[in-house]
Amino acid sequence: MGTIIDGAYWAGVSRQETAQKVQALKEKGITPRLVVLLIGDHPASASYVRGKEKAAWSVGIESEIMRFPAETDEQVILDTLDQLNQDPHVHGILVQLPLPAHMNEQRVVSRVSFEKDVDGFHERNVGALSIGTNRMVPCTPLGVMELLRYEKIDITGMHAVVIGRSNIVGKPMANLLLQANATVTICHSRTKDMRTLTRQADLLVAAVGIPRFVTAPDVKEGAVIIDVGINRVDGKICGDVDFSSVEPVASRITPVPKGVGPMTIAMLLANTVRASQIQHR
Ligand code: GUN
Repeated sequence: MGTIIDGAYWAGVSRQETAQKVQALKEKGITPRLVVLLIGDHPASASYVRGKEKAAWSVGIESEIMRFPAETDEQVILDTLDQLNQDPHVHGILVQLPLPAHMNEQRVVSRVSFEKDVDGFHERNVGALSIGTNRMVPCTPLGVMELLRYEKIDITGMHAVVIGRSNIVGKPMANLLLQANATVTICHSRTKDMRTLTRQADLLVAAVGIPRFVTAPDVKEGAVIIDVGINRVDGKICGDVDFSSVEPVASRITPVPKGVGPMTIAMLLANTVRASQIQHR
């Protein structure tokens, strides 16, 4: 039976460490500040952004949400980012995704100064991750690595299978696992005979965005299962893993909610502090 990895607990540990670093910065006269841009009225985004703001204040980071209507011209967002990039009191900037369809996502996220890019989505931070000179690393995959570290799961030599190839999770996750000396396979919607691959996984990361996509027959006995999914089904949150069928087969497994999600927010706070430290070096 799989031991449940308590992401909420570990996120609390991480947030305490971050709160101490915030305190140290404040003693030097620096108050870390995070600005979140919320464009449009995507219902999940609004609640994620509120969660991020609340978490920031809880560790002593000043946080502000800038809201823009869905029909805002992209140039207005680019100009706003230019101003925030130049503001010495702003250390972290995050543009909540998805953007309205008329905006060019990569152009917008790469307009954030790479030093303030607490999401790690700027091309320069993506490039650094791919050559192993990590700067700002995307929060969700970073949170997964922190969970594995806290749980003392040594992934050296493991076969890690990542389902999903998004820029936010799948690709950076694969890079981080590779850096930690796993053998990495990435599966996606066009992968043939995915089950043959997932059944070889010592570590399986599900980041597909399809509720309960991974079931017991997809999983090797004793595998570590990390569920990155946050799906709403009949008003309830569920992951990309069918927890009740997979949990008896796994050695460890993250639940949804209270698994990877709280770690994502904890890493956003950690990245904001890191950005503050870098900018005041
Ligand atoms: N939308 C879903 N996940 C994320 C994330 O990690 N960062 C941002 N900015 N938007 C998201």
